Amino acid sequence: MTGNAGSSTQENHFRQRLRVMAEKIVIFCRYYVPLIVLLPYRTLQFFYQIKTQVPIEPKHSSSFITDSEIQSEFAHHAPGVAMMNNGSFGCCPASVISALHQWQLKMFRQPSHFLLNELKNRILESRTIIKDHINAEDVDEVSIVDNISTAAAIVLQQTAWAFAEGKFNKGDAVIMFSCTYGAVKNSIEAYFSRAGGSVIEVPFNFPLNSNEEIISEFRKALEREKGNGRRVRLAVIDHVTCVPTVVMPVKQLVKICRDEGVEQVFIDAAHAVGSVDVDMQEIGADFYASTLYKWFFCPPVVSFLYCRKSATHSDLELHHPIVSHRYGKGLAEESFWVGTRDYSPYLVLPSVMEFVNRFEGGLKGIIKRNHDAVVEMGKMLAEAWGTNLGCPPDMCASMIMVGLPACLGISSDDDATKLRPHLCDKFGVEVRIHYQAPKDGEVGSTTGYVRICHQIYNKVDDYYKLRDAVNQLVRDGFTCALEVCICSAFIQFIGL
Ligand SMILES: Cc1ncc(COP(=O)(O)O)c(C=O)c1O
Repeated sequence: MTGNAGSSTQENHFRQRLRVMAEKIVIFCRYYVPLIVLLPYRTLQFFYQIKTQVPIEPKHSSSFITDSEIQSEFAHHAPGVAMMNNGSFGCCPASVISALHQWQLKMFRQPSHFLLNELKNRILESRTIIKDHINAEDVDEVSIVDNISTAAAIVLQQTAWAFAEGKFNKGDAVIMFSCTYGAVKNSIEAYFSRAGGSVIEVPFNFPLNSNEEIISEFRKALEREKGNGRRVRLAVIDHVTCVPTVVMPVKQLVKICRDEGVEQVFIDAAHAVGSVDVDMQEIGADFYASTLYKWFFCPPVVSFLYCRKSATHSDLELHHPIVSHRYGKGLAEESFWVGTRDYSPYLVLPSVMEFVNRFEGGLKGIIKRNHDAVVEMGKMLAEAWGTNLGCPPDMCASMIMVGLPACLGISSDDDATKLRPHLCDKFGVEVRIHYQAPKDGEVGSTTGYVRICHQIYNKVDDYYKLRDAVNQLVRDGFTCALEVCICSAFIQFIGL
């Protein structure tokens, strides 16, 4: 009895110890194992995210951004306005605006530390994203600048010094198309012409049927100059022209420049990044500048200037037009610090990459989506108005020119300038209007075009609104000539 009782007490004691041990194992597995495994993992993940802050590749899953998420990213757009003019000043989604504010707060929290210690590395991060995107060879080829006007000043300023220092001779030429952007033309005038250079303006005929028309005009002009014995020091070529808008055959034009001995080629690619594929090795230009605030979802203002390493030989000095403490330390470094200011727009690129990678196919997917949509809408409008597109669809990116009904009487740049606010104020449509002078002796050609853009926030209804607005003007018997008469009568009446 006693022996049995003793062995059963021993057994109970053993069971109890077993249970306690089992409980300890369970507690250990439940609480400590996840801690031991997850803590280092989460720590690594945290630092990795801080370092890169961007998923490098576009998503390949079904969790792409939805239409309603797109609309909420642009919920700050003015309600009731059909915005089809993204090409002028671009757009910025709410998530990127929020990133911009975060950077601003970071700066305000401790300005000295941020501007003196942190800014340079953050800008390097943005430059690296650009370098990878445009397939540049080296990050030092990429400088972040505010806008194309700044980039053009950098490129043209060195030509003025070349004249001053006797490297260029009076009469040496720059070649450009007649459709070159006005501000860039002014830069050519301010730096190149004033220093003694001459300008070859290649006619840009519009409407266009093929790239060959552009290429042959360019080749003809260069051959003519060769015959005259003039040195062509620089070519200035748009990648995507402003108005009238077309995608230029830049690769072929750069090749012609090389074959014909043009020394430097500068591509004004204001509209390129985010609306066409951009590859520095393929294009082969010496200088290439694109905005990132038009088609790449950055806030104003951020752009970049690429300077090919092989083009920046030792006697070619490139400097930012704003001279700061960084003068003489290389263009990328000079551009990263142009005096005290808010550099936050330069820092949002990781957030922009995150945004574009929410779309199927990433930026490439967005480019295709916008191109297909703008072509479809352009054709719909041309059919509704009984007009034509200004060029074949494969010569445009995310913007296209559509002929306006002749009865609107657009017969000068002034008419085009006035029709734009009229459409906005009366009908709530934002577009750009272009006057195209008829060629010599041409009668009855279309002289008024609308430039429509498509960005991810646009809806079909925006274009229907434009179609109906123009149809309404036609029905009302509106003509620009009449508008001008009424305006001048009014001005006379009030005695101005
Ligand atoms: C061809 C071209 N170049 C330059 C610009 C603008 O230059 P910035 O960035 O200096 O305003 C535009 C703007 O529409 C453009 O279309």
